[in-house]
Order: sequence, then structure tokens, then C-alpha cells
Amino acid sequence: MNNSYRDVAGMLRELRPIQPVYCIYPRRYRKSTADFVKGFPGRVLYAVKANDHPSVIRLLYDSGVRHFDCASLPEVRRVADLFPDATCYFMVPVRLRGAAAEAQQKYGVRHFVIDHVDGIASLAAEIDMPNSVVFARMAVHHESAIMNLSAKFGAPPETIPSLIEAILATGAEPALAFNVGSSVTRPEAYSYAIGVASEVMRQLPVKLRLVDIGGGFAMPYPEFPVPPIGEYLAAVREAMKELPLRPGGEILCEPGRALAAPGLTAVVEVLMRKEGDRLFINDGMYGIFWELRCGGHESFPARVFRDGTLLSGNERSFRLYGPTCDSIDILPGAVELPAEIRAGDYIEFSGIGAYSLSGRTDFNGHYSDNIVTIESD
Ligand SMILES: Cc1ncc(COP(=O)(O)O)c(C=O)c1O
Repeated sequence: MNNSYRDVAGMLRELRPIQPVYCIYPRRYRKSTADFVKGFPGRVLYAVKANDHPSVIRLLYDSGVRHFDCASLPEVRRVADLFPDATCYFMVPVRLRGAAAEAQQKYGVRHFVIDHVDGIASLAAEIDMPNSVVFARMAVHHESAIMNLSAKFGAPPETIPSLIEAILATGAEPALAFNVGSSVTRPEAYSYAIGVASEVMRQLPVKLRLVDIGGGFAMPYPEFPVPPIGEYLAAVREAMKELPLRPGGEILCEPGRALAAPGLTAVVEVLMRKEGDRLFINDGMYGIFWELRCGGHESFPARVFRDGTLLSGNERSFRLYGPTCDSIDILPGAVELPAEIRAGDYIEFSGIGAYSLSGRTDFNGHYSDNIVTIESD
């Protein structure tokens, strides 16, 4: 398969694909990434889990991302193999045995995270602590976040001082990390969490150099409006003035969705239209749409192509059904599409780059690895 097309219409005319096609738009990725990196007042660590496709990682790197939040040794390996000069951070508090040792010895990883005193001993058994930075991860959820990232990992704020002291005792540099949630719908969540962090930091015996404020920066979807990313970054810039960092200190962030979402689309074929405005398509909840099982937004912006041309006209709401025989394989939200849509048409869903490619399965034998580049934006 040719890998690069000027636009989606041309790709459809040439391929008339039977399997779903995932389209990488380099221009979109370059612009959104460069804007984020420019607007964030500190180090931007891309959360690789959001989309670990090498082409996506490469585009983010080309757009200025040099730091990577990795949650497993394979993620570290993938980034390090692509870019030996990138800095990988191993930012999960519970790891497979030996993973921290290999990350440090083979890939030079120096940044790790713990959220329990037992995690310090297991880390110290594997890495050179005086040559490492160890973040204590604090639990700090905000109600405006769709996903709570403090339910599984994170120590209560009042226990952070003792964790920091225990890290200090090993000779490692202590630092602080937290995640206010994923798909955080109100920028003041960051002000709140940075406020909690500031309080905790005032109780510490030392001033910290690094504070990692996590990911969570939300993206808009149909029926899921959120403020523009600039408002989140402005809230961070304002709140960080209160952080009692050591002189020369820095804040870090771990955006996944905000970097991964914008530049990928999924093009799926309509296989059948049934009464009741039901469309059966060739991708679904076990494939590229799996993230829709997690709550929050329920669909993606969509447009339709017929015979390689954009289809317009009056729209109405459709329910979409995936290709497996499983009855939960139904997209949760209705999608507005041209009323005359029919079998053989293609739907392109945009902004679908986060938590899509990286978690699709081959359940029922349905799996597409057709990934192409679209040069237009
Ligand atoms: C520790 C950690 N950092 C960063 C992220 C990225 O979150 P988001 O995609 O909402 O920016 C996640 C998401 O699960 C996470 O668990």
C-alpha cells in the first residue's frame, strides 16, 4: 500500500479500502504540538501510552518534544530506540521486577516515581539512587476530571513529607508528582492541585527542584465542549507562581491526549444501513473506538465521503454499530451525518489519536494496521 496521500478523498479513490484506514496528518500534529510546547512554562513529557505509534512519536519529537513519560520498559525501549538523545522518565509507581534496573543500565533512565514507602526499597534494590531523581506521587483528584488518576496510584498529601524524607535518606534527589485526572474539564483543577502541592512543599525539610503536574489537558469532542488549551496553560502559569521551588526549579507535565489526539483520523466504511438510522461499520468498540468505553465524550467529529467526494446535505442522528458479533459493540453517542448516507460510503472521524491505536484489539478477528499519511491539513 502506498503510504502517503495528498488528501483522504484521493486515498479513498485509489484504495477503496475494505479495512479501516488510520490517517496521520503531520501538519496538524506539528502545529498542535509546537503550540503546546511553546505555551507550557516548563518541561513537556509526552505520555507515550496515549499513542505509541512510531510515526506519531517521531512527529512529536520533530515538533520539539524531547522528554517522554513511559509507563513500562517496552515504552522506554521504543522511545530510546527511536531517539537515543531523548530523555525517558519511568513514571509508574509499581513496575515489573527488574524493569527499573534495565531502564537505568541499558537506557540511562534517571527519573522514577514511588507512591509508597515499600516502593523506595524495591527501587533502591535496582537503581543507583544517588544518581537518580525519585518523584513521590501525591493523590489529588479534582471533580472536573472525567477519569480519576488518584484512585489507583498516589499517596495522601499528608504522607508526602515522610516519603520525601525516606527518598532523601537513600541519596536520591526527591521530587513531587501528581495527576489531577484525565480529561480535566475545568482549568481551575490545576490551580487547585498546584495549591495542594504548594502547601505540602512548605512542610518539607528541603526545597524541591522538580514538580510534575501530570497530564489531563482535555480536548473538545461533539457534545463535550471544554475550554481551549490556552486557558489550561494560563491557569498553570498563574498557579505555579505560588510553588516554593528551589531557585532554578522547574515544573513538568505529562500530556497524553492533548498531544496525541489532534493529528489522527479513522476512516471506516458503512457496511449496512438498517431502519431506525442504524449504521453498521467496519470498526468499533474493540477497535479504534475502545476509549469510548471509559465515559466522558461519546463520539468524534465526522464527515462522509461517497465515491471519493465529500458528501454534504441535511444531517440527522445515527447510531453506529461495530463489526464484531458482540452486543456492546455499539458506539455510545449518536453521530450527526448526512441523511442520505448509505452502504459503501466512508466516514472519517477526526481528533481520534489518543487512546485509540494503542489499545485496539483483534477481538473477533477484526484488526486493521492500515496507517497512511495525509499531506494536506
Ligand atoms: C501517570 C499518567 N500521566 C499522564 C497521563 C496522560 O493523561 P492525559 O492523556 O489525560 O493527558 C496518564 C493517563 O492515564 C497517566 O496515568
